[in-house]
Amino acid sequence: MATDDDDTINLASIHSLEEIEVVAREKLSEVAYAYYAGAAGRERTHERNRLAWEAIPIWHRVMVDVARRSTATTLLNAPLSAPILAAPTALHKMAHPDGELATVRACGSRGIGMVLSSLATTSVEEVCRAAKGPVHFQIYIGPDRGFVRELVARAIAAGVCALQLTVDAPVWGLRSREMKTGFRVPEGMSLANLQGLGASVPRDHTGVGIGGALGWTISASLTWRDLEWLCEISSVPVLVKGICRADDAQTALRAGAAGIVVSNHGGRQLDGAPATAESLPRVAEAVAHRVPVIVDGGIRSGADMFRALALGATAVQVGRPILYGLAAAGEAGVARAIDLLVEDFDRTMALAGCPLVGGITRDFLDPSRG
Ligand code: FNR
Ligand code: LAC
Repeated sequence: MATDDDDTINLASIHSLEEIEVVAREKLSEVAYAYYAGAAGRERTHERNRLAWEAIPIWHRVMVDVARRSTATTLLNAPLSAPILAAPTALHKMAHPDGELATVRACGSRGIGMVLSSLATTSVEEVCRAAKGPVHFQIYIGPDRGFVRELVARAIAAGVCALQLTVDAPVWGLRSREMKTGFRVPEGMSLANLQGLGASVPRDHTGVGIGGALGWTISASLTWRDLEWLCEISSVPVLVKGICRADDAQTALRAGAAGIVVSNHGGRQLDGAPATAESLPRVAEAVAHRVPVIVDGGIRSGADMFRALALGATAVQVGRPILYGLAAAGEAGVARAIDLLVEDFDRTMALAGCPLVGGITRDFLDPSRG
């Protein structure tokens, strides 16, 4: 676990997400860092995510008046100061004692959204009370549907404005760094949203690796009928997280999805899956602006955000950099990570000759199409 000596870090002297990761790594235990940083298999999809964004050139337009510009946008009617949400990631208290509360406060102070993992260490009620912006709640559907129904009702009563159903985890990916370091949910750390619900919730989560500890939360028999069921029981929009194919995006919309999250779980599930920069354009084309398309995986700069929007995304989600900010310096560290991304996005818009988010189109990646 990280220690609480936040004041020893001069955040203003940190100018990149990579530097934040270095500080985080120093503060985290080896086990916690392996859990956050690790991915599945040989970690090729994780690596491919980042490289694929970087490989896309931005064909900047010159002599455009960019003196006045705005990174602001909306997502499902909620205003955002920039098209970013903190991706759902488990166990924030392993990074910092303030856990998800620090994350949601930083997101709120910066005007971006947060997706709370169902495997969070802070209750959805506390997170919603501390939120200033939109909060989505991520869920898995496990074998006990009564439990899922109760969890969904609880999150909606707390005030979340959307659900994200993660569908890329019929089983857990093989995370060798977790196995090597003997990752376990730390003793005394409660999965605050899973307590007291459903008969099947085990009282402890002592197994090794995410599969050993939390295997009961997912189900290998999930199908589109389960998405239809979730859309029926949910009074808030349901987004489907973990899609890479155009046909799956179409089917998700037919089943009632109100949005698609193009994701490969940060390379933590199928090692060999395409980079999200590769799958996003196909999905965006199939969705054809009917619902928002969010993308995550390897977004590490404002230029990556610009590329994602140019390929058809409405917004991006950011996973590990938020966790590293949290580990480095709690709320202030998350805020610094967000600032670095938003400042770079704003600078990229200026340098690309595009003063408004709505003007970021495919033309910037492939002028011959325009
Ligand atoms: C995740 N991710 C994830 N996804 C999800 O649906 N529920 C979860 O509980 C978690 N937990 C989680 C923990 C950790 C440590 C990581 C790194 C990731 C996946 C996450 O939402 C997102 O898809 C990726 O993290 C995006 O990739 P980057 O930004 O980390 O490269
Ligand atoms: C992970 C799970 C919790 O990626 O989604 O670790």
